[in-house]
Amino acid sequence: MLFLLSLIPRAMWNNITFCSICKLSPNSAPLLLPRLLTLNHVFKGKCKGFFSNSKQSTQTLQNEGQKRTCSMLPSRLVSSKAKYRRCAKTYPVLDGRVLSLYRHVFEENLRNSEAVVKRYSELLELVSKGGGENAILRHTQRNKKLFVRERLKLLLDDESFLELSPLAGLNMPYGDVPAAGCLTGIGKICGVWCVFTANDATVKGGTIYPIGVKKQLRAQEIAMQNRLLSVYLVDSGGAFLPLQSELFPDRSHGGRVFYNEAIMSAMKIPQVAVVCGSCVAGGAYVPTMAEEAVIIDKIGTLFLAGPPLVKAATGEYVSPEDLGGAKLHSKVSGCSDHFASSEKEAYECVRNVISTLNYEPLPDEVTEHDGPLYSSDELLGLAPRDYRCTLPVKLILSRLLDGSRFQEFKADYGTTLVTGFGHVEGHLVGVVANNGELTHDASLKGSHFVQLCSHRSIPILFFQNTAPHAAEPTSISQAEAHSNRLKAQASMMAAVACAAVPKITVVIGGCYGSESYVMCGRSFSPNFLFLWPNARVALVDSRHLTAVPQAGDSDSTDESELKHLKQRLEEESSAFYSSARLWDDGIILPQNTRKVIAQCLQIIQQQKYQVIPPCQHPVIRM
Ligand code: COA
Repeated sequence: MLFLLSLIPRAMWNNITFCSICKLSPNSAPLLLPRLLTLNHVFKGKCKGFFSNSKQSTQTLQNEGQKRTCSMLPSRLVSSKAKYRRCAKTYPVLDGRVLSLYRHVFEENLRNSEAVVKRYSELLELVSKGGGENAILRHTQRNKKLFVRERLKLLLDDESFLELSPLAGLNMPYGDVPAAGCLTGIGKICGVWCVFTANDATVKGGTIYPIGVKKQLRAQEIAMQNRLLSVYLVDSGGAFLPLQSELFPDRSHGGRVFYNEAIMSAMKIPQVAVVCGSCVAGGAYVPTMAEEAVIIDKIGTLFLAGPPLVKAATGEYVSPEDLGGAKLHSKVSGCSDHFASSEKEAYECVRNVISTLNYEPLPDEVTEHDGPLYSSDELLGLAPRDYRCTLPVKLILSRLLDGSRFQEFKADYGTTLVTGFGHVEGHLVGVVANNGELTHDASLKGSHFVQLCSHRSIPILFFQNTAPHAAEPTSISQAEAHSNRLKAQASMMAAVACAAVPKITVVIGGCYGSESYVMCGRSFSPNFLFLWPNARVALVDSRHLTAVPQAGDSDSTDESELKHLKQRLEEESSAFYSSARLWDDGIILPQNTRKVIAQCLQIIQQQKYQVIPPCQHPVIRM
């Protein structure tokens, strides 16, 4: 594992990786070391210590667990004298010991985790290089611009940020588009959480691909749903012309970004843009629709058609600077509101603009809380390789919740769904977690519990590991059970869709068919949705396919056709395939899950501190 972590380049330590979330400085190495050693231990299969024969009492276990957690976690996460104002210390403690009878499954999961984590690290390394070394050289040496990740360092507070969907755009039908050509995420500026969208001009001049449009629209959706102000770093040649038909005319195509900018402004969500490169055509509208824009001298240009087009149309040569440079837009056209003589000055200017927004940063109070009693590194052995390797979900919860404490709801009813309350870094949450097939009873219980959370304004965490189903019932009684289950699932779907509270979904195993909707899949608009790298996302599990469905009565049993279809299904259901297409907000490592969830809960909370006066119109620029 040390080897694997060494594969992750420094630049990516500000990713949704383990290191970013813990925000490790070189000085934190001693804190990191025990965790790495444990992980190393886990990967090497030396896990004897945490397999249990269940004879130990929960109290002993709790004491041991507490000691162990204290020695492993960075000290700020562990409370010595906790203020249990809201974090009920009396919630029962989950028994998170992994029984020896689960050992072989645990080890099988671990082997799989090792492979997928390695692939994850390799892909992250690939995208951290943007359009590649030559393109970076051209960008930094010839065009004298900062690489997009350097820009973010200057823009954001010196704290960890949450990068969204870094693997979007890989292996698309039209080729690899690293990070979809633009970085998006949520970070703090002057203490306020902001969504950023930053073009990476090393990827085909920052031009917008269909997947890039999707990524920008998702960032805006997050900004609207969570009321986060937005910053755009624009360095883009506009539409990637060879794919114009997939980018231009439709509702969710490029124009929607500009439409959203107006709607967001009317919603009183401020937006600031920096013209930090060439902003041509579509790229030019983003800053001109923003509420305030900064342009950088000799680097930023803004026009609908560049010098080559002017030459073709009029025969006249005009330099980019004269056609749409910083001086022109600051002094003549008024398209830009602030002139910056360097990149550094521009990001300082944005930080100043943000401090004029009269936006309240989150209060600095940190609720003290306990860490879980069990090591989060062991989640790698609990992350199911496939559905057959699923272990009881409470083992996972005991590694995510504060003090491994959980106030379970309807513990003995509909046990294939676990519901209850707990805390994540001091935030009260409702938990809905698959623990087997989503039966009739489990769905009714889920529906009841989700409504409770909604009534009490408690954010809900969904841990999704849905069971793949055989396509058809084989008897009348089975058909009856199916239709009853369907009715109960429909009731839970309605409860989930209408619950007016923040929802965060983590796919910890399978995301199959209709149960994924019930468990707040992407189409049910959770505020955030993340996948573990072992996750499988598909309508059906390839192993359940016994024939190729055909029109008419008979299905084809052609062996080679079936094999081909299964292979395709298998490929298309990997977490990497999903994340490349932006069906989620990114892959997170199991051992980072608690940190990512806590960060999202904090981000979501920001809207509590905003005063939102009625306002029906956007800021219309001159
Ligand atoms: N569509 C498709 N590819 C484009 C593109 C576009 N709109 N704009 C640039 N590219 C490609 C270039 O062909 C080049 O590809 P390559 O690396 O395979 O050779 C790559 O992006 C980088 O372009 P390059 O011109 O070498 O980089 P640069 O940093 O010097 O300039 C731009 C970048 C965007 C300023 C410049 O390419 C440009 O002006 N492009 C035209 C923009 C335009 O007219 N857009 C209209 C959209 S409606």
